[in-house]
Amino acid sequence: MKLDRGYLIALEGVDGTGKSTQCALLADYLESAGYPVVRLREPTQGVWGQKIRKILTDGRGGVTPEEELQYFINDRKEDVKQNIAPALEQGKIVLIDRYYYSTAAYQGALGFDPEQIINDNEVFAPRPDLLLIIEVSLDESFRRIEEGRDEISSFEKRDYLEKVRAIFDTFTGKHIRRIDSTPPKDEVQALLQQEVNALLGLKEESS
Ligand code: TYD
Repeated sequence: MKLDRGYLIALEGVDGTGKSTQCALLADYLESAGYPVVRLREPTQGVWGQKIRKILTDGRGGVTPEEELQYFINDRKEDVKQNIAPALEQGKIVLIDRYYYSTAAYQGALGFDPEQIINDNEVFAPRPDLLLIIEVSLDESFRRIEEGRDEISSFEKRDYLEKVRAIFDTFTGKHIRRIDSTPPKDEVQALLQQEVNALLGLKEESS
């Protein structure tokens, strides 16, 4: 299946919404429909991503909020240059699990201005054609986190995630869709597929 151009689709949401599972299912769906898909995830496995993962497992330690924010920005700059921009130029669908809206929400919850973070990122990071914000209550997301893992990362504290979630709720834009992830995962997946089909279908018609 050939596309008229590359498409960038980002999945976002607080921890424990089922976002990563949905992202994997969506990639399978698009691949089996014959589309060229590149699946990415931030934080990446790169140098900066590894520094970030250390904070997640060991706690923030001596890392200041400013440094943490900078790590995420550096990680993304590399990702855009090495992965996102080349794949979009090659006319692929880039499916990314977390993007700069996570920085706005999570580092915004540390006290930075979310809008400023978005503006700073949009200087170098392409805006997604579709932003799927996956939502579930915080009670449910904690239930899922605890069910799925032995360890809870240093970011997964209730009062912190309340703030993160409140910032996700403020994002507006024509490219944003909010998807309720309370129903069984196949139902949620069907809704995501509808959104993606609409994006690809609409663009095919207008080209
Ligand atoms: P996550 O997708 O949850 O990775 P994993 O499934 O391996 O735990 O992302 C890790 C954490 O990083 C998550 O709690 C959100 C946080 N994060 C930020 O704080 N800022 C960002 O810019 C990004 C991309 C993630």
